[in-house]
Amino acid sequence: METWDAIRARRNVRSYTAAPVPESDLNRIAEAGWRAPSASNRQHWDFIVVTDRKQLTELATVWRGARHIADAPAAIALVVPEPADDRTRVVDQYDLGQATFAMMLAATDLGIGTGHSSVGDQDKARAILGVPDTHVVSFLLGVGYPADRPLQPILKPDRRPFDEVVHYGHW
Ligand SMILES: Cc1cc2nc3c(=O)[nH]c(=O)nc-3n(C[C@H](O)[C@H](O)[C@H](O)COP(=O)(O)O)c2cc1C
Repeated sequence: METWDAIRARRNVRSYTAAPVPESDLNRIAEAGWRAPSASNRQHWDFIVVTDRKQLTELATVWRGARHIADAPAAIALVVPEPADDRTRVVDQYDLGQATFAMMLAATDLGIGTGHSSVGDQDKARAILGVPDTHVVSFLLGVGYPADRPLQPILKPDRRPFDEVVHYGHW
């Protein structure tokens, strides 16, 4: 898919077919995150690719917005060290956002859907994934082929009006 088409076709996919995602595609999606920029290139992240059904079912319970993970053939957990201070916390979240979006775009390019989830129950998420308590499971990304409709450029996205958001020169 052309980059511009992938940008326009990406959306949160929360229902998936049962088809497994090939390991090579999961690796490519993870590589997109691995290649993402981060502040001072510090790469305060680890990515855990999950395909085990039991783990996926359990991960779906760590947040009310995580239910789609139960039916996903795969998920990627984004993990960061417990931040040392507020500034680190803010910048880590920015970096994670960039890694997430890179993964979502790489997946879209392959016709694979992705769906964000936050994490509420940190202890449970850590236990499921074997993450030490020095680290935080910040976000989950469900990964799988869309069950509703293929990924195609969205002509009218649900967004604030472009002219209200984009300013030239001044506010
Ligand atoms: C930081 C962040 C957290 C999110 N958390 C969740 C979540 O817990 N569950 C969920 O279903 N979607 C979650 N989303 C997805 C947003 O609701 C979604 O991106 C937004 O509604 C725009 O829709 P689109 O991604 O389809 O364009 C999250 C998105 C972001 C950026």
